[in-house]
Parts: sequence; C-alpha cells; structure tokens
Amino acid sequence: MGFSASFLYALFCSVISSILAEHVTVTVNAATAVAETDFNFVCATIDWWPKEKCNYGMCPWHESSLISLDLSNPILHNAIKAFKSLRIRLGGSLQDQVVYQVGKNPPKCHSFKTIKKGLFGFSQGCLTMRRWDELNHFFSKTGSVLTFGLNALTGRKRVTRRGLYVGNWDPTNAHDFIEYTVSKGDNIESWEFGNELTGDTGVAARVNAWQYGKDLIKLKEIISKIYHKNDKKQPKLLAPGGFYEPRWFADMLRTSGPNVVDAVTQHIYNLGAGVDRKLIYKIQNPHYLSRIASTYRHFSTTIRNFGPWSAAWVSESGGAYNSGGKEVSNTFVNSFWYLDQLGMASTFGHKVFCRQSLIGGNYGLLNTTTFVPNPDYYSALLWHKLMGPRVLKTIQNGSQFLRAYAHCSKKKPGITVLLINLARKTAFEVSVASELSARKRGTREEYHLTPQGRNLRSHVMLLNGKPLNLNCENHIPKLLPLIAEASAPVRLVPLSIAFVRFKGLTAPACS
Ligand SMILES: *[C@@H]1O[C@H](CO)[C@@H](O)[C@H](O)[C@H]1NC(C)=O
Ligand SMILES: *[C@@H]1O[C@H](CO)[C@@H](O)[C@H](O)[C@H]1NC(C)=O
Repeated sequence: MGFSASFLYALFCSVISSILAEHVTVTVNAATAVAETDFNFVCATIDWWPKEKCNYGMCPWHESSLISLDLSNPILHNAIKAFKSLRIRLGGSLQDQVVYQVGKNPPKCHSFKTIKKGLFGFSQGCLTMRRWDELNHFFSKTGSVLTFGLNALTGRKRVTRRGLYVGNWDPTNAHDFIEYTVSKGDNIESWEFGNELTGDTGVAARVNAWQYGKDLIKLKEIISKIYHKNDKKQPKLLAPGGFYEPRWFADMLRTSGPNVVDAVTQHIYNLGAGVDRKLIYKIQNPHYLSRIASTYRHFSTTIRNFGPWSAAWVSESGGAYNSGGKEVSNTFVNSFWYLDQLGMASTFGHKVFCRQSLIGGNYGLLNTTTFVPNPDYYSALLWHKLMGPRVLKTIQNGSQFLRAYAHCSKKKPGITVLLINLARKTAFEVSVASELSARKRGTREEYHLTPQGRNLRSHVMLLNGKPLNLNCENHIPKLLPLIAEASAPVRLVPLSIAFVRFKGLTAPACS
C-alpha cells in the first residue's frame, strides 16, 4: 500500500469508527455514597464436590474439593496470595452431609460415595482434623479470610419425599469442631449455617424457617461461649445460604431475633442451567442481566424490615447452575456477567459477593485441572485492587449496552469507574463527569480488558492489548494500567470492559 492509499485507509477507519462511536456521559454523584461494601467484597468458594460429581454427562470437578485439593500447588498459592486478603467461603451442597472427626466419641470417618438414595446422590462424608489443620495452615499462609459452612441437618429426620426435615438441630459435633478450631488458634471470620435448605420447595432438603431460627439462637450461644472462654474476637454468624424467598427469610429473622444473624446470605444463579445453549447470549443481553436487580433490591428490603442488625451477602453465585457452562463460564464472555453482578450487588447494599468457585466445575476462577487463571480471575483481582468499599450513584445517557459503575478508589485517591460495553459493533466515547468536581486535569489510569483473538470464548484475557499469562515462575502477572490525559473521553471498543481510575476526581463521599 502506497502512502496515499494507507493514508486514505486510515482516514476511512477513523471515519467509520467515529460514525460507530456513541458519545456518552457517565455522571457520578460524588456527594454521598449510596452503599458501602466490606473491604473484602470479592470472595470465592471452595466446595465439597468429589470427582464423581457429574452433570450433563460431564464430571468437571476433578480433585478440587476441600478434601482433595492439592494445597502444595504453587499456582493456587500465588493466585490467592495476589489478593493479599482473599475472602474464601468453604461450603456447598454436600456441607450438610459432612461430619467432623473430633470430640469424645468422634463419628466414623467415610469419604463421600455415590449412592442412589443419598441427598444429591452422595453418602455422608467426613472432615478429618488432620485435613482441617492442613487447610488452615494453607489459608493462613495465603492471607485468606475464611467463612466455614456448618452442617445444619445433623440430628434431623427427613419426613416427606420432597425433602422436608424436622426436629431440632443436634449441635454436638459442630460444637466440638468449633472448639477444636479455636483451640488450634485458627481464624474463622464467619461461620455459616446450612446450604440451600430454605424456602417452601428447597433444592433437595429443606427446614422450616422457625425451626431454623431457633437453631440459630442455639448456634450463636455456642459460638459466643467458646470464643469468649478463649478470649477471642467473636466471629460472625451467617445464614441461611439459600435462594431468596421473602416469607421464609423474614420468618427466619423474626424467630432468631436481634443480633443473632450478622449477615443474611443468599445464592444467585440467574443464568439458568449450565447446559443451556443460549447461555452465552443471555450473558450479553442487558435486559436479561438486569432482571436480577429486583432480587437484590427486595432482599435488601427484607433485611432492612426484619433484621436491620444484619448485613446482606451473596455467599454463593456461579451464574449458571449445575457446575456452570462448558466453554462459557470459564471464558472471557463470563466477565460481562460477573463484573456486572459485582457492580449490581454492591449498588444494592451487599457487603460480600462469593463466586462459585475459586476452583472446580466449569465456573472456576482457576482452571480445575491446570490451576491456570481463567479470565474472571483477573476481573476479580482488578475489582479487588481498584474498587473501594464506597459505592457511588452512577447514571449515563447512552445505550443499555453500556453498563457503568463507580466506587471510591481503593486505598488511593479519586474515583474508579467500571465500564462494560456489551455492544457488538458500537464503540463508546465515554466522558465521566462528577457533579461536584470539575477537576479533571491530570491523568487517569485505564485497564482495558478484551478477549484474545476477539474470541469471546477465549480462555485468555488481554489487558491493554497484552495477554495475561502466568510468568515463568508461575506468578500472577503485574496488572499495569495505561496512563491517559484525564480530560479526553475514554474510548471503549465493542465487547470490552474497562476499569478507569480518575486520580483527580475528588469526591466528598470518598474523603
Ligand atoms: C482447563 O484447561 C485445559 C487446557 O487448556 C482445557 O482443555 C480445559 O477445558 C480447561 N478446563 C476448565 C474446566 O476450564
Ligand atoms: C449524552 O450527553 C452528552 C453531553 O450532554 C452529549 O454530548 C451526548 O451526545 C449524549 N449522548 C446520548 C447518547 O444522548
């Protein structure tokens, strides 16, 4: 191509891109924060599923369970360590079938086996104190902040075919387990009671809300006594780790009463079944993504009305249920869903968002067999590093395909804006304005995320055009921004994501 041809070509491209670029103003209300998350808002789960757990003819869990996960894997270590303080929730469906091998008459220890009549198709399983020590050693070494999900079915009897369990919870084994944990000096930030035992239908097993509330009072007493006796800071009590049903959750809070449940935990699987062929389209559809907003809003309202002493948490969310979507949940496209959820959940006052899973299934932040980080791992890490606890109200005048969220920057001055462009063909030229601050001089930091080869199903995420890969010593790469003049609009190419930190946007809400 000669000079004039290439010049014409460049001119043509810039004309095309300016035609297809939509100018949008994102306005951040810097006067007051609309919500405040926990410092460790980003959280990931480790589950109990053994390698025999299968869905749709696939068995994607391998050796990722709490029992068999290889704690000596250097990538696992480095991936958690990169967060400095990653919140990790230990739990999942099988937690209500786990016995702890501890106490005067320790229960017999058998590993999970597939059995037809078992809950979720599995027998009871067991956590030995040797493994528990190893886990605690690993989590302490990596700076993790732990939630442990306790078995809430102990001592109850199943009375209906549809899975209703009745009778008081038997706290003996949990008591001994908590006492053991405290005696070892192991740090559990929060204990969660039960997994998906809520509601009138339940997933596989369910317990009445008033029974649950009474058992929570008992568990709170046990925890308070043990920690008090040992002069230790009281951990939080979380419940019930289930799908939100207004009446059940209100009844649980009414029965347990003030200051028993420190955070009410809900699970979110708003993308439907992992096997759904339309999964990848749902993730790119702004109308579909927004539907869950009403659940976040109503959940917060229930807590305000019936348990204002409690916080709202998402203690498990994998997007698509039954282990996630193969070649979707572990690829770039999933970050559209994931980061948008983090934005939405924090806007609606949730303190913590636990991603199912850190590792395991098709939705792991890390690849289940190689431990190599998937794109969502880097999305989580960037959020954790850049988005501070204070959430700012953000509005924009552009299309629905642009999603915008703003927080006070984390541990640094200024405001950080998360921009998600779901449009296939439209680029956005985004001007960020703050109602109270005209200071836009100086520079800003941009972190643009796109998929390798423009393939939405890529396992490789590009940061400012460069692939994010482990370095040769299996360390997480540094996440370095582009520096740009703060006054020019931010250009967001189609199907991309950007975090932008405006150093000079000073907000009263952030001081
Ligand atoms: C893990 O990585 C391997 C190799 O790249 C790939 O074939 C596999 O699908 C990945 N598994 C998951 C669950 O992401
Ligand atoms: C949004 O507002 C800005 C500033 O008023 C304007 O330049 C822009 O064209 C608007 N965009 C849309 C899509 O309305």
